Amino acid sequence: MRIDIITVLPNLMESPLNTSILKRAQDKGLVEINLHNLRDYSLNNQKSIDDYAFGGGAGMVMQIQPIADCIEKLQAERKYDEIIYMTPDGETMKQGMVNTLSLKENIIILAGHYKGVDERIRELFITKEVSIGDFVLTGGELPAAILSDAIIRLIPGVISDETSALTDSFQDGLLAPPVYTRPEDYKGLKVPEILLGGNHSAIEKWREEKAIERTKERRPDLLED
Ligand code: ADE
Repeated sequence: MRIDIITVLPNLMESPLNTSILKRAQDKGLVEINLHNLRDYSLNNQKSIDDYAFGGGAGMVMQIQPIADCIEKLQAERKYDEIIYMTPDGETMKQGMVNTLSLKENIIILAGHYKGVDERIRELFITKEVSIGDFVLTGGELPAAILSDAIIRLIPGVISDETSALTDSFQDGLLAPPVYTRPEDYKGLKVPEILLGGNHSAIEKWREEKAIERTKERRPDLLED
């Protein structure tokens, strides 16, 4: 899979994308991530990429030309399955959306800034708009890193224990059950006996019950879905 990210702040994205599991995924050739600095596509000496909003109002608007030039250059090189715009007014990111995106070959992610992008960018190029939740951040960079992380960890071979991505919270519509490691007894707080016994079918049953219990308590809306 190849992910091209268009941003005015490539530095902000370097560290989360080039650390730990995401770094290893790139080193193993399982994913290729390319950061594109939008200012490289500015045609003026100041390297600006935004301008005042027509009609007035606070906040600058990202202009069409630099974004269009960057996207068109990429499209001339290969075909893209999705061109995603990170924005608080997009579709809320959910595991099912991430699962679908993890099956794509080439995607572009545009990180928005300021008051947003000129609406015509959305009309011309964007195939999917994604929000990471009902709150507003300073820019789309961290949301783009979050979406990339969620997608990449699903690519086969990225997580060493293949079953572990499938047993995540949300993959079966339930939250994950509680987990424990050594010591068996910490200041009198004991690990549930059943997990120590080695009866795998009983352990599976216990985990499923706990997952349902936890989902009922914390996220009853998931059970309604
Ligand atoms: N940019 C700013 N806030 C955002 C959000 N919640 N989701 C996606 N992109 C954003």
